[in-house]
Amino acid sequence: MDREHRIAIAKQVLSMLDKDEIEYGEESREFDIGRFTDKERFEREKQEFFLKRPQLIAYSADIPNPGDFYATEIVGKPILLVRSKDGKAQAFLNACRHRGVKIAEGCGHAKGFTCPYHGWTFGIDGSLMSVPSRGAFDDDQLKDRDLIPLPIAEDIGLILVHPQPDGHVDFDEFFGPMKAHLAGYHFEDLRLVQEYRAPARINWKHAVDGGVEGYHVPYLHPETVGPMTLPQFLHLDFGLHHTLVSVGPDIAKLRDLPESEWPEYCNFSVSNAIFPNTVIGAGELIAFFQRSEPSDEPGKCDYIFRTYGWGRNATDEVKARDKMIADLLLKVALDEDMAVQSSSQIMMEAGAVPSIILGKREQNVLRMHINYDKLIGHDAAATLRAEKFAEAAE
Ligand code: FES
Ligand SMILES: [Fe+2]
Repeated sequence: MDREHRIAIAKQVLSMLDKDEIEYGEESREFDIGRFTDKERFEREKQEFFLKRPQLIAYSADIPNPGDFYATEIVGKPILLVRSKDGKAQAFLNACRHRGVKIAEGCGHAKGFTCPYHGWTFGIDGSLMSVPSRGAFDDDQLKDRDLIPLPIAEDIGLILVHPQPDGHVDFDEFFGPMKAHLAGYHFEDLRLVQEYRAPARINWKHAVDGGVEGYHVPYLHPETVGPMTLPQFLHLDFGLHHTLVSVGPDIAKLRDLPESEWPEYCNFSVSNAIFPNTVIGAGELIAFFQRSEPSDEPGKCDYIFRTYGWGRNATDEVKARDKMIADLLLKVALDEDMAVQSSSQIMMEAGAVPSIILGKREQNVLRMHINYDKLIGHDAAATLRAEKFAEAAE
C-alpha cells in the first residue's frame, strides 16, 4: 500500500477514535455448521478452492538467492520452491521421478537434490542429472524424467503456485485491487525468524476466520495483544481477499505530528486473508505467514505459522527483539486462538452447536463464508431451514 493509502487509513481510524465509533458491517447472519464438519463439503472445498486455483504459498524472501529452496505443501501435495541461477522462482512437485520419494525437506541452499532412496540427482532447474547404475534403464526411459514443474508467478515479494502442472496463474488477476494494497510493504525484504508446522485439530477455515476478525481480541487476549489493541478495527473487502486493519494506542500520537512526518507504517498493522487459506500479517516490527492446509478430515489441518523481521541484515539486538515478538505471536496463535478454535470445532462435531452466527463486527468472516458458499453452490439459509424442520419433526 502506498503512503497516500496508508495516510487515508490512519485518518479514517483517527476520525473513528474522535467520534468513539466502532465499525459495524451491514448485516449479521446465521450459518450451518456443515461448513466445518461435513466430509463431502470438505472434499469439495479441497477440489474447488485449493486444487483448481493458484495458492499464495510463500514470500519471495523464503528463497532469496539462487539455489535457495523451500519445501512446503498444498493440501498434502508436496511442493518444492527453488530460486534458479538466473534469479527466477521455480516450483516443482517435490517427488522423485524414479519411484516418487520426496527429495527435499525444510529449507536451505542446494546445488541439486539427491533422492534418499536410490540416489537419483536433480539439478536446481529440476533436470535429472544423474542416475546410479544408469545402464539398468533404457535411455529413452530416462528421457522426460525431470521434476514436474508447476505454474508459478512472483511479484511484490509474494509467490503464487498452481498445484496442477497445467493450471493457470496470473498474479494480477488473482490479487485484483488487493495488489496495490499489498505493494509497498516490501515483502521481499523479510527475514525468517522462525517456523512452526504441526497438525492442528481444527477445520482449516477457523484459522483464516481468526486472522481477520478483531471482535474477539480484548476477551481472548487480555494478557497478550488485547491491551495493545484498540477496538477501532477497519475491514477492507477485496472480493475473495479481505483485510483487517488493527491499531494500538500509538495511533493517537499521529495527531501531534504534521502528516509529512507520519512514520511509514502510520502506527497500524494489517492482517490479510488471501483466498482460500493464507493469512499474511504485516506491522512495523514483524510480519507473519500462516496457512492451514486441510488434511484428511474436516476437523484437521496442518498448521504453518512463519514469522519474519524486516531487513535482510539485522543486528543481534534486532534479531533478539524479533525473536521475542515472534514467540509472543506464536503463543497467542497456539495457546489462545487455536485453543478456542479447537474447542469450537470439537463442540460442533459433538453436535452441541446447531448453527453459528456472524455479527456486524465479524464482517470479513461473514463475507468469506458467503463467498465459500457461492463458489460451491451451497445455500446456507435453505440448509438451516431444512435442519430446523427435521429437528421439529423429531
Ligand atoms: S525413488 Fe528416488 S531414486 Fe529411487
Ligand atoms: Fe486472536
